[in-house]
Amino acid sequence: MPGERRPPGRLICVEGGEGAGKTTQAQMLARAIGAHLTREPGGTALGERIRELLLTPSSEKLAARSELMLVLAARAQHLAERIEPLLEEGSHVVVDRFSGSTLAYQGYGRGLPIPEVRQACDIATNGRWPDLAILLDVPAPAGLARRREPSDRFEGESDDFHERVRDGFLAEAAAEPERWVVIDGTRPAGEVAGAVLESVRGRLGLEAPAGTAS
Ligand code: TMP
Repeated sequence: MPGERRPPGRLICVEGGEGAGKTTQAQMLARAIGAHLTREPGGTALGERIRELLLTPSSEKLAARSELMLVLAARAQHLAERIEPLLEEGSHVVVDRFSGSTLAYQGYGRGLPIPEVRQACDIATNGRWPDLAILLDVPAPAGLARRREPSDRFEGESDDFHERVRDGFLAEAAAEPERWVVIDGTRPAGEVAGAVLESVRGRLGLEAPAGTAS
């Protein structure tokens, strides 16, 4: 009805280590539920410039706290400019990485204290956490083996770093099971997509819009 306010949209994020298949799954999910698709770091002009800074290998060593602040600056802009307006108008948003990645990479991976990283995420997002975080879990070596060359600044990190990231994602998912769902990302993409959609339906009650194939 004209003038009727739609309920706010849901924010769903797809998380995982390198080569977990997030991007493909985020695309398939967004299509299946008629959601807007975006990514981090990125999603706005500023965010994409920050992404470039973060991913381009450089001889200049980026301090862990600088990295954290860059990731969060991109997120704050993304929320203000894109995500919050979409949710407010009642659209659902699927984001390829969000605060779970910050905990896993800058917290567990780089070794910044987890409570500080969590607090910093809260400041950047004004307390916004996803309604559902989908972790595509893949053993770190298997994920890295799927990546193309040349590698970016994160892919070039040590095996230990990627193991810590994976363990960090799993620890976060275990600590907040009401927010997270863990899906075995080593299965064929079609099976993973089915499990992702099932979890979104089960947890959030979202269905494919009329006329959309699931
Ligand atoms: P991807 O789009 O290929 O996953 O690359 C994004 C990279 O950025 C990935 O290596 C993880 C990193 N990243 C962080 O370190 N912290 C974050 O909060 C986010 C969103 C991404």
